[in-house]
Amino acid sequence: MHLVVASTAGFCFGVNNAVKIVFDLAERTEDKIYTLGPIIHNDQVVNKLEEHGITAIDNPEDAEVPAKVVIRAHGVGPGVISEFENKGIQVINATCPYVEKIQRLVYGKHKEGYQIIIIGDKQHPEIIGINGWCGNSALIIDSSEQVGSLPEIKKSICVVAQTTFIREKWEKIIQSLNKRFENVLKFDTICNATDKRQTEAEKISREVDMVLVIGGKNSSNTNKLYEICKDNCPRTFKIQTASDIPPVDIKKIKKIGITAGASTPDWVIKEVIHNMSELDKQDLEMSFADAFESS
Ligand code: F3S
Repeated sequence: MHLVVASTAGFCFGVNNAVKIVFDLAERTEDKIYTLGPIIHNDQVVNKLEEHGITAIDNPEDAEVPAKVVIRAHGVGPGVISEFENKGIQVINATCPYVEKIQRLVYGKHKEGYQIIIIGDKQHPEIIGINGWCGNSALIIDSSEQVGSLPEIKKSICVVAQTTFIREKWEKIIQSLNKRFENVLKFDTICNATDKRQTEAEKISREVDMVLVIGGKNSSNTNKLYEICKDNCPRTFKIQTASDIPPVDIKKIKKIGITAGASTPDWVIKEVIHNMSELDKQDLEMSFADAFESS
């Protein structure tokens, strides 16, 4: 039996950075530490943080000062940062640098007089945060059909995308905006991490007899990976930890693919790999091992 482990499985750069910041902070401060919302959609990580006394809160009123609050990779608007600072809580900003870049762009172009349009999910924390950097004045859409219902815009337009937006949909929306408006300045701010993970999952799931997709039950990018793999490989299972590995007759399976969502820690992935390889101690095709060695 061979295991084919996706090199893109697990934390993306931004999530890895945010989680590392919280754990490092726990090592070097006596202050109470909070995260603004769960740092990632993963129960194992959230439980580990709770063991270190780090809890998630939704607003400054829930914090006991003195304290530090960590802003997760999605980022927030400047108003949220001020609310915490005004309460005497030190803000540690773990916003993904790619998201921060969009925030700076939106802030600058808004000041120059552009109307900001954000292509993305208006309920998503990343988008709520980015909108905060232009005084919540952005128009937010997520389909080309919605371009027709935008108001008349006299100003020049600056368009940015949610980092996880689907690129084909982005191109379509830009085409519609260009048809309807003049002076559309576009910045493709989609992050490649999601693209790469999905493309690799698609490829692996075509080549194997079974796929394990590891991720939190509320992780939307894990669910998406599951859908992609299930389409190509009916024997696809979504699991949260090694204890969820389904009872399958390993002798009848030649190749097993493993991938994981952006909020799945490496120790959970390694545990799954370990348990699978214990089931059948043979060669492992582990591009994955290189990925972790270099991280
Ligand atoms: Fe950042 Fe891209 Fe991950 S924007 S949080 S590296 S998906």
